[in-house]
Amino acid sequence: MSMRDDILKVLFTEEQLKEKCAEMGAQITKDYQGKNLVLVTVLKGAVVYMADLMRHIDLECAIDFMVVSSYGSGTKSTGVVKIVKDLDEDLSGKDILIVEDILDTGMTLNYLKGLLSSRNPASIRIATLLDKPERRAVELQADYVGYQVPDEFVVGYGLDYDEKYRNLPFVGVLKPEAYQR
Ligand code: IMP
Ligand code: MG
Repeated sequence: MSMRDDILKVLFTEEQLKEKCAEMGAQITKDYQGKNLVLVTVLKGAVVYMADLMRHIDLECAIDFMVVSSYGSGTKSTGVVKIVKDLDEDLSGKDILIVEDILDTGMTLNYLKGLLSSRNPASIRIATLLDKPERRAVELQADYVGYQVPDEFVVGYGLDYDEKYRNLPFVGVLKPEAYQR
């Protein structure tokens, strides 16, 4: 019995993700020369991407984490989020890069971007590994995008279904029967 038996197809392999992180890290390194970079991650989905990406950023930078929970029923994002754990750092004068696993409706990030903007950072941008532009419900674009994906539910490399599959080293699509368990 393997977790991989639940996967219908692999979208991005471990090797491809590794290469993508190197590419994105190099671009961020170029763009943030002489800045006060703080990498901000919202737990938990983006931790795997964050851990890989940061090792390709050749700059002094700080990392910080937030825990949020969205109000609203079930899996529908309402965009109103409750801060469960706030950042430890003062953001004034800092160049914030929000590191996200996937940009879906954009409601959560739109709210967070607004919230963090009110704390007087020097700049604020978004890096997302995956982007589902078809699903967007608000006007929001990431500044750095790893891959665009179609409107399919994906798991692995930090992304979960019901808190499972985060530890798969690749990004893939689940078999329909995996949802019925
Ligand atoms: P939204 O952009 O506010 O709709 O929410 C984005 C969040 O929804 C992501 O950080 C994920 O936690 C979750 N999410 C959206 N699409 C997927 C998916 O395909 N697989 C796993 N989680 C997803
Ligand atoms: Mg997430």
